[in-house]
Amino acid sequence: MGTSDADILITVSDLCKVYRMGTDSLHALDGVSLEIKRGSYVAVMGPSGSGKTTFLDILGCLSRPTSGRYWLAGQEVSGLSERRLAEVRNREIGFVFQNFNLLPRSSAVGNVELPLVYAGVPRRERVRRARAALEAVGLGDRMGHRPMELSGGQRQRVAIARALINNPSIIFADEPTGNLDTHSGESILAILDELHGQGHTIVMVTHEPDVAARAQRAVSFRDGKIVSDTWQTPQKPA
Ligand SMILES: Nc1ncnc2c1ncn2[C@@H]1O[C@H](COP(=O)(O)OP(=O)(O)OP(=O)(O)O)[C@@H](O)[C@H]1O
Ligand SMILES: [Mg+2]
Repeated sequence: MGTSDADILITVSDLCKVYRMGTDSLHALDGVSLEIKRGSYVAVMGPSGSGKTTFLDILGCLSRPTSGRYWLAGQEVSGLSERRLAEVRNREIGFVFQNFNLLPRSSAVGNVELPLVYAGVPRRERVRRARAALEAVGLGDRMGHRPMELSGGQRQRVAIARALINNPSIIFADEPTGNLDTHSGESILAILDELHGQGHTIVMVTHEPDVAARAQRAVSFRDGKIVSDTWQTPQKPA
Protein backbone atom coordinates (compact mmCIF):
# COMPACT_ATOMS: atom_id res chain seq x y z
CA MET A 1 0.00 0.00 0.00
CA GLY A 2 1.42 3.42 -0.91
CA THR A 3 1.72 6.34 1.46
CA SER A 4 0.12 9.56 0.29
CA ASP A 5 0.82 12.99 1.77
CA ALA A 6 -2.55 12.85 3.54
CA ASP A 7 -1.31 9.88 5.57
CA ILE A 8 1.51 11.95 7.08
CA LEU A 9 0.54 13.88 10.18
CA ILE A 10 3.97 15.11 11.27
CA THR A 11 7.07 15.96 9.31
CA VAL A 12 10.20 17.36 10.92
CA SER A 13 13.30 18.23 8.99
CA ASP A 14 16.77 18.79 10.43
CA LEU A 15 15.48 19.89 13.84
CA CYS A 16 18.11 21.29 16.18
CA LYS A 17 17.74 22.54 19.72
CA VAL A 18 20.76 24.24 21.21
CA TYR A 19 20.91 25.32 24.85
CA ARG A 20 23.52 27.95 25.60
CA MET A 21 25.01 27.64 29.08
CA GLY A 22 27.52 30.43 29.57
CA THR A 23 30.11 29.89 26.87
CA ASP A 24 29.10 26.27 26.22
CA SER A 25 26.39 25.20 23.85
CA LEU A 26 24.60 21.93 24.28
CA HIS A 27 23.02 20.29 21.25
CA ALA A 28 19.99 18.63 22.83
CA LEU A 29 18.68 17.85 19.32
CA ASP A 30 21.20 17.61 16.53
CA GLY A 31 19.58 17.32 13.10
CA VAL A 32 16.45 15.20 13.57
CA SER A 33 14.33 14.36 10.51
CA LEU A 34 11.27 12.14 10.73
CA GLU A 35 7.77 11.56 9.39
CA ILE A 36 4.92 10.23 11.50
CA LYS A 37 1.90 8.66 9.84
CA ARG A 38 -1.60 9.58 10.92
CA GLY A 39 -3.01 6.95 13.26
CA SER A 40 0.33 5.37 14.09
CA TYR A 41 1.65 4.52 17.55
CA VAL A 42 5.30 5.50 18.01
CA ALA A 43 7.57 4.83 20.99
CA VAL A 44 10.53 7.18 21.52
CA MET A 45 13.43 5.57 23.38
CA GLY A 46 16.99 6.38 24.35
CA PRO A 47 19.21 6.95 27.38
CA SER A 48 18.71 9.76 29.87
CA GLY A 49 19.71 13.10 28.35
CA SER A 50 19.46 11.88 24.74
CA GLY A 51 16.85 14.51 23.81
CA LYS A 52 13.53 12.62 24.09
CA THR A 53 11.67 15.23 26.15
CA THR A 54 13.18 18.05 24.12
CA PHE A 55 11.86 16.36 20.97
CA LEU A 56 8.39 15.68 22.41
CA ASP A 57 8.07 19.26 23.70
CA ILE A 58 8.77 20.60 20.21
CA LEU A 59 6.33 18.16 18.58
CA GLY A 60 3.75 19.17 21.20
CA CYS A 61 4.28 22.88 20.39
CA LEU A 62 5.42 23.52 23.96
CA SER A 63 8.79 24.76 22.78
CA ARG A 64 10.41 25.81 19.53
CA PRO A 65 13.46 24.42 17.77
CA THR A 66 16.60 26.53 17.39
CA SER A 67 16.56 25.59 13.70
CA GLY A 68 14.84 23.15 11.40
CA ARG A 69 11.26 22.87 10.18
CA TYR A 70 8.08 21.28 11.47
CA TRP A 71 4.85 20.59 9.60
CA LEU A 72 1.79 19.42 11.50
CA ALA A 73 -1.23 18.31 9.45
CA GLY A 74 0.23 20.01 6.40
CA GLN A 75 0.77 23.33 8.17
CA GLU A 76 4.21 24.68 8.89
CA VAL A 77 4.40 25.22 12.64
CA SER A 78 7.81 26.91 12.76
CA GLY A 79 6.47 30.21 11.44
CA LEU A 80 3.33 30.53 13.59
CA SER A 81 2.82 33.30 16.17
CA GLU A 82 2.42 32.35 19.84
CA ARG A 83 -1.32 32.86 19.56
CA ARG A 84 -1.67 30.65 16.48
CA LEU A 85 0.58 28.05 18.08
CA ALA A 86 -1.68 27.96 21.15
CA GLU A 87 -4.68 27.45 18.85
CA VAL A 88 -3.00 24.53 17.09
CA ARG A 89 -2.09 23.06 20.47
CA ASN A 90 -5.66 23.35 21.71
CA ARG A 91 -7.18 21.85 18.60
CA GLU A 92 -4.79 19.06 17.64
CA ILE A 93 -2.73 18.06 20.66
CA GLY A 94 -3.18 16.30 23.97
CA PHE A 95 -0.11 16.19 26.21
CA VAL A 96 0.50 13.82 29.13
CA PHE A 97 3.42 14.91 31.30
CA GLN A 98 5.65 12.58 33.25
CA ASN A 99 4.94 14.39 36.52
CA PHE A 100 1.19 14.71 35.71
CA ASN A 101 1.19 18.57 35.99
CA LEU A 102 -2.18 18.65 37.76
CA LEU A 103 -3.50 21.65 39.69
CA PRO A 104 -3.24 20.57 43.36
CA ARG A 105 -6.21 22.58 44.63
CA SER A 106 -8.62 21.54 41.88
CA SER A 107 -10.75 18.41 41.80
CA ALA A 108 -10.39 15.77 39.10
CA VAL A 109 -13.25 17.43 37.19
CA GLY A 110 -11.63 20.86 37.64
CA ASN A 111 -8.34 19.60 36.23
CA VAL A 112 -9.88 17.81 33.27
CA GLU A 113 -12.08 20.74 32.21
CA LEU A 114 -9.16 23.19 32.16
CA PRO A 115 -8.40 22.99 28.40
CA LEU A 116 -12.08 23.75 27.77
CA VAL A 117 -11.82 26.90 29.91
CA TYR A 118 -9.10 28.10 27.52
CA ALA A 119 -11.28 27.11 24.57
CA GLY A 120 -14.15 29.24 25.93
CA VAL A 121 -16.61 26.37 26.40
CA PRO A 122 -19.52 27.24 28.77
CA ARG A 123 -19.33 25.79 32.28
CA ARG A 124 -22.19 23.27 32.10
CA GLU A 125 -20.81 21.80 28.89
CA ARG A 126 -17.29 21.71 30.37
CA VAL A 127 -18.39 19.80 33.42
CA ARG A 128 -20.47 17.38 31.35
CA ARG A 129 -17.53 16.59 29.08
CA ALA A 130 -15.02 16.39 31.95
CA ARG A 131 -17.24 13.88 33.73
CA ALA A 132 -17.58 11.80 30.58
CA ALA A 133 -13.78 11.83 30.07
CA LEU A 134 -13.22 10.72 33.67
CA GLU A 135 -15.78 7.93 33.22
CA ALA A 136 -13.90 6.85 30.11
CA VAL A 137 -10.66 6.37 32.06
CA GLY A 138 -12.45 4.51 34.87
CA LEU A 139 -12.57 7.37 37.40
CA GLY A 140 -16.32 7.89 37.55
CA ASP A 141 -16.16 7.44 41.32
CA ARG A 142 -13.33 9.95 41.87
CA MET A 143 -14.72 13.10 40.23
CA GLY A 144 -14.43 15.32 43.31
CA HIS A 145 -11.05 14.11 44.55
CA ARG A 146 -8.07 16.42 44.42
CA PRO A 147 -4.74 15.05 43.13
CA MET A 148 -3.46 14.54 46.70
CA GLU A 149 -6.44 12.28 47.36
CA LEU A 150 -5.66 10.04 44.36
CA SER A 151 -3.09 7.29 43.76
CA GLY A 152 -0.31 7.79 41.20
CA GLY A 153 -2.10 5.70 38.60
CA GLN A 154 -5.35 7.59 39.18
CA ARG A 155 -3.52 10.93 38.82
CA GLN A 156 -2.05 9.75 35.54
CA ARG A 157 -5.54 8.77 34.36
CA VAL A 158 -6.80 12.28 35.27
CA ALA A 159 -3.91 13.65 33.19
CA ILE A 160 -4.95 11.42 30.28
CA ALA A 161 -8.60 12.48 30.59
CA ARG A 162 -7.41 16.11 30.47
CA ALA A 163 -5.30 15.36 27.39
CA LEU A 164 -8.35 13.81 25.68
CA ILE A 165 -10.95 16.42 26.50
CA ASN A 166 -10.51 18.35 23.24
CA ASN A 167 -10.59 15.15 21.20
CA PRO A 168 -7.08 15.86 19.85
CA SER A 169 -5.78 14.02 16.82
CA ILE A 170 -2.41 13.39 18.52
CA ILE A 171 -1.51 12.36 22.03
CA PHE A 172 2.02 12.97 23.25
CA ALA A 173 2.92 11.11 26.43
CA ASP A 174 6.27 11.57 28.19
CA GLU A 175 7.03 8.46 30.28
CA PRO A 176 3.32 7.95 31.08
CA THR A 177 4.08 4.82 33.10
CA GLY A 178 7.44 5.97 34.48
CA ASN A 179 6.27 6.68 38.01
CA LEU A 180 3.76 3.85 38.27
CA ASP A 181 3.67 0.30 39.59
CA THR A 182 3.12 -2.49 37.05
CA HIS A 183 -0.62 -2.72 37.60
CA SER A 184 -1.29 1.04 37.26
CA GLY A 185 1.12 1.20 34.33
CA GLU A 186 -0.83 -1.55 32.58
CA SER A 187 -4.12 0.34 32.94
CA ILE A 188 -2.50 3.43 31.35
CA LEU A 189 -1.12 1.31 28.48
CA ALA A 190 -4.55 -0.27 27.97
CA ILE A 191 -6.06 3.23 27.62
CA LEU A 192 -3.37 4.17 25.08
CA ASP A 193 -4.02 0.93 23.14
CA GLU A 194 -7.72 1.80 23.05
CA LEU A 195 -7.04 5.38 21.89
CA HIS A 196 -4.80 4.04 19.16
CA GLY A 197 -7.58 1.64 18.15
CA GLN A 198 -9.94 4.64 17.87
CA GLY A 199 -7.59 6.26 15.37
CA HIS A 200 -5.61 8.68 17.54
CA THR A 201 -1.93 9.12 16.71
CA ILE A 202 0.22 8.40 19.75
CA VAL A 203 3.82 9.35 20.41
CA MET A 204 5.08 8.00 23.73
CA VAL A 205 8.47 8.41 25.39
CA THR A 206 9.58 5.45 27.47
CA HIS A 207 12.72 3.91 28.95
CA GLU A 208 11.20 0.45 29.19
CA PRO A 209 11.49 -1.99 26.26
CA ASP A 210 8.31 -3.86 27.23
CA VAL A 211 6.37 -0.58 27.20
CA ALA A 212 7.88 0.39 23.83
CA ALA A 213 6.82 -3.05 22.55
CA ARG A 214 3.18 -1.88 22.71
CA ALA A 215 3.82 0.57 19.87
CA GLN A 216 4.03 -0.07 16.11
CA ARG A 217 7.28 1.74 15.69
CA ALA A 218 10.28 2.39 17.93
CA VAL A 219 12.52 5.41 17.36
CA SER A 220 15.72 5.57 19.42
CA PHE A 221 17.72 8.67 20.25
CA ARG A 222 21.31 9.05 21.31
CA ASP A 223 23.07 12.38 21.82
CA GLY A 224 20.26 14.29 20.13
CA LYS A 225 20.23 12.11 17.01
CA ILE A 226 17.99 9.29 15.81
CA VAL A 227 20.11 6.12 15.85
CA SER A 228 17.42 3.58 14.96
CA ASP A 229 13.87 3.58 13.64
CA THR A 230 12.06 0.26 13.28
CA TRP A 231 8.52 -0.96 12.67
CA GLN A 232 7.32 -3.86 14.81
CA THR A 233 4.23 -5.92 15.58
CA PRO A 234 2.69 -4.41 18.73
CA GLN A 235 2.79 -6.79 21.71
CA LYS A 236 -0.28 -7.03 23.94
CA PRO A 237 0.12 -8.19 27.56
CA ALA A 238 -0.15 -11.95 28.09
N1 LIG B 1 16.33 24.13 29.67
C1 LIG B 1 17.51 23.51 29.45
N2 LIG B 1 18.67 24.19 29.54
C2 LIG B 1 19.86 23.57 29.29
N3 LIG B 1 20.00 22.28 28.99
C3 LIG B 1 18.87 21.55 28.90
C4 LIG B 1 17.58 22.11 29.14
N4 LIG B 1 16.64 21.14 28.97
C5 LIG B 1 17.32 20.02 28.67
N5 LIG B 1 18.66 20.26 28.63
C6 LIG B 1 19.71 19.28 28.28
O1 LIG B 1 19.39 18.74 27.02
C7 LIG B 1 19.67 17.34 26.98
C8 LIG B 1 18.44 16.58 26.57
O2 LIG B 1 17.48 16.68 27.61
P1 LIG B 1 16.09 15.91 27.56
O3 LIG B 1 15.29 16.39 28.72
O4 LIG B 1 15.50 16.07 26.22
O5 LIG B 1 16.58 14.40 27.77
P2 LIG B 1 15.71 13.06 27.88
O6 LIG B 1 16.14 12.15 26.79
O7 LIG B 1 14.26 13.39 27.99
O8 LIG B 1 16.25 12.43 29.26
P3 LIG B 1 15.46 11.65 30.44
O9 LIG B 1 15.32 10.24 29.97
O10 LIG B 1 16.40 11.76 31.60
O11 LIG B 1 14.15 12.33 30.69
C9 LIG B 1 20.21 16.97 28.35
O12 LIG B 1 21.61 16.92 28.29
C10 LIG B 1 19.76 18.12 29.23
O13 LIG B 1 20.67 18.33 30.28
MG1 LIG C 1 12.81 13.21 29.51
